[in-house]
Amino acid sequence: MEIKRVGVIGAGQMGNGIAHVFALAGYEVLLNDVSKTALEAAPGIIGGNLDRQVARGRITEEERDRALGQIEIAPEIATIGAADLVIEAATEREELKHKIFASLAPHLAEHTILTSNTSSISITRLASQTDRPERFMGLHFMNPVPVMQLVELIRGIATDEPTYKTMAAVVTKLGKTYSSAEDFPAFIVNRILVPMINEAVYTLYEGVGTVSSIDTSMKLGANHPMGPLELGDFIGLDTCLAIMNVLHEGLADTKYRPCPLLVKYVEAGWLGRKTQRGFYDYR
Ligand code: CAA
Repeated sequence: MEIKRVGVIGAGQMGNGIAHVFALAGYEVLLNDVSKTALEAAPGIIGGNLDRQVARGRITEEERDRALGQIEIAPEIATIGAADLVIEAATEREELKHKIFASLAPHLAEHTILTSNTSSISITRLASQTDRPERFMGLHFMNPVPVMQLVELIRGIATDEPTYKTMAAVVTKLGKTYSSAEDFPAFIVNRILVPMINEAVYTLYEGVGTVSSIDTSMKLGANHPMGPLELGDFIGLDTCLAIMNVLHEGLADTKYRPCPLLVKYVEAGWLGRKTQRGFYDYR
């Protein structure tokens, strides 16, 4: 099936990045969010990230302008029904995601493929509450979307082969590489990455090292582009905690228990870069 028009629900960090890469690959993009403020800010943020790519010689000014012209702001969710592919990239709360798919349902064309950018929630469970579990799957982008090469493809139990093949072709057209993950809590990347970040928080909590010694150790000792605490701040500590909770509950193994210090930071509203404070102070 050919995908031409793509509806992105959620104009946060991930939704904006997803709209950016689809527009750059020539897809028509409809960008929706419940927040008027987020929608108003989106073209400026995406434009700024495209400018970065122009400045680094990765794309031309014409490509930037064409990409921006491909993005239509769609404040009404009904408009998204006109898409061939819908990507839900809203906040990582399961009830909210069910609600979004339910509100979309009356407006959807028969052929539309539904996907979620969820970083950890069961695709099978999300799909089961829609009218098309066979045309539903996980499409998990990494942050920052314009830079990261990988997209995880996750089939729910009912996902059919044509849907999987269509999505694999879409990822390839974006110039990205896909990996295939089974529908288990947090899939592959976050199953490995987020417990590492949680372990770094335990390392801090137990006084084994300071924030800077932990991050320097992993940057220089394991060649990671960011230290684990810096990366936690970048992903969002609330997102990291939500993923640890999904792993802990879903796999029922104490090795996934969230570090109490991570819980405390989230309770304090110190969520990382987005609140200007996490393990580092960005103010
Ligand atoms: N949009 C477009 N381009 C961007 C960008 C953005 N938002 N952010 C960075 N870039 C580009 C820069 O322009 C630069 O481009 P060139 O290579 O063409 O020069 C390149 O990315 C590197 O950026 P910088 O030089 O500014 O900074 P850096 O070298 O420190 O790299 C980084 C920044 C790419 C974020 C790097 O630190 C990194 O790879 N960090 C790890 C990121 C990571 O692990 N992400 C996965 C998180 S897990 C996840 O996302 C899953 C989940 O569900 C939680």
